[in-house]
Amino acid sequence: MFNVTRNGLSVSGVQRAAMLTVMLSATPRSIAPALHNVSSTASVATETVASSFSSPAVLKNISSLPRTVEVTITAAPARLGLLPGKPTDVYAYNGTVPGPTLEAREGDHVIIHFQNNLPEPSTIHCHGIHLPADMDGSPFGLVPAGGHFDYSFTIKAGTAGTYWYHPHPDLRSEYQVAKGLYGALIVRADDDPIASIPEKLLILSDNRFLPDGSIDFPDSNSVQAEVDEENGREGNVLFVNGKVMPTLTIRSGEVQRWRVINASASRVYRLAIPGQTLLHVGSDGGLFEHPVEVNDILVASSERVELLVRGTGPPGSQAQLQALPYDRYMPQTRPADWNVPRALLSLSVSNATPIAPVSIPTVLRPIPALDTNTATATHVVVLSQGLINGEVMDMHRVDVNGKLGATEIWQLENIVGMDHPFHLHGFQFQVLDRNGVPERYRSWKDVVNIPKHESVRFIVKYSDFPGKWMFHCHILAHEDHGMMAVLEVK
Ligand code: C2O
Ligand code: CU
Ligand code: CU
Repeated sequence: MFNVTRNGLSVSGVQRAAMLTVMLSATPRSIAPALHNVSSTASVATETVASSFSSPAVLKNISSLPRTVEVTITAAPARLGLLPGKPTDVYAYNGTVPGPTLEAREGDHVIIHFQNNLPEPSTIHCHGIHLPADMDGSPFGLVPAGGHFDYSFTIKAGTAGTYWYHPHPDLRSEYQVAKGLYGALIVRADDDPIASIPEKLLILSDNRFLPDGSIDFPDSNSVQAEVDEENGREGNVLFVNGKVMPTLTIRSGEVQRWRVINASASRVYRLAIPGQTLLHVGSDGGLFEHPVEVNDILVASSERVELLVRGTGPPGSQAQLQALPYDRYMPQTRPADWNVPRALLSLSVSNATPIAPVSIPTVLRPIPALDTNTATATHVVVLSQGLINGEVMDMHRVDVNGKLGATEIWQLENIVGMDHPFHLHGFQFQVLDRNGVPERYRSWKDVVNIPKHESVRFIVKYSDFPGKWMFHCHILAHEDHGMMAVLEVK
């Protein structure tokens, strides 16, 4: 750990420096063109209700055994006040939206007693966790209405990161997530290099409501239903941990570690705090090798990011976490207000005296490269509108065969004019290149957004756990309509 200076470093500087003297600089050096019209917050779409920031409760560990996390999660209908003054009928995990956070450490044995008190089948899918196929909560493992299932698995070393859990029934994932079923899953490492930095969890979600407060699911023959089917369901009310535009307090000079989960069914967030840079330190599968300084970060549906955010303003000042415009859409169904930045959270610099900046390590953890020379197969996967390799999901078909223990390359080609965030179950991968341009730094990922007409190659090792694994577009409407397929590892 080292002292910091007041200078922000360039990305390449950050990556090369043996010692990092990072300060999240107060003035972004380069601003993407689209940002120029965001000169004042007056043009930002903001909901009016303010509340203070809070995180979901942490699931109670009922085990007394060492290195064991044993929890109970019940999914059931509930009536909650998501909007002021109006109750909403939801589905909730243990009675809250978002559900309580599952916290565990690398090496822990996790047991989840799942009770399904919904009027329909469901599952608990631990998105991004490397676990046995029969514990994956995929559509192959439906838990019937009223049924019970015990998920049990051991968290692998080196997989500390920010994950989340959600239902995964075939055809009904979008509905169940929209009704309120999602929660965070945080895996910690004993040797976390930034464990001393105060941490905040931000689960991003959006929803749409009818005037009476009920969740708006359009009539299946309506125009809105068609738009939802193409874009995925987006809502006009944006939540952080189930709250609209909460206020998070930071001290001047303080650095906070934010774990951000995009639990939205389709919305993509281009996160920024206008006027300051962010330090991007991790993604789906945990920390990077080195911090990377950025002006904004794209977080597609189901992706996660870890950021270091600094209170750059003087005591009493305010900043905003915003979602900047990002055009993922086909022109014909692009929302009219797609180019308006959206406010997500207000960051309030407290009146406490400024604190001395903490040092931030330059080296976070090693990410050993998967070697392309050892790859024994390349799978080409073509994404079109609602289809993978020209077909809709068939639970009885195997689409890709993988060899247990093998390292393989996947080449994903999006041949249509809208983005598809691609997700593989069970195994973290490393992006090799995008449109042939090598990825600038390594990270562990389980979701990669494939923009319109672009291609991405990643490399993955099926280190263990034979079985059938889903891969799909994580726009939940696309997944439900069949943009999902099966990898069999054996
Ligand atoms: Cu977030 Cu198939 O999962
Ligand atoms: Cu998943
Ligand atoms: Cu898609």
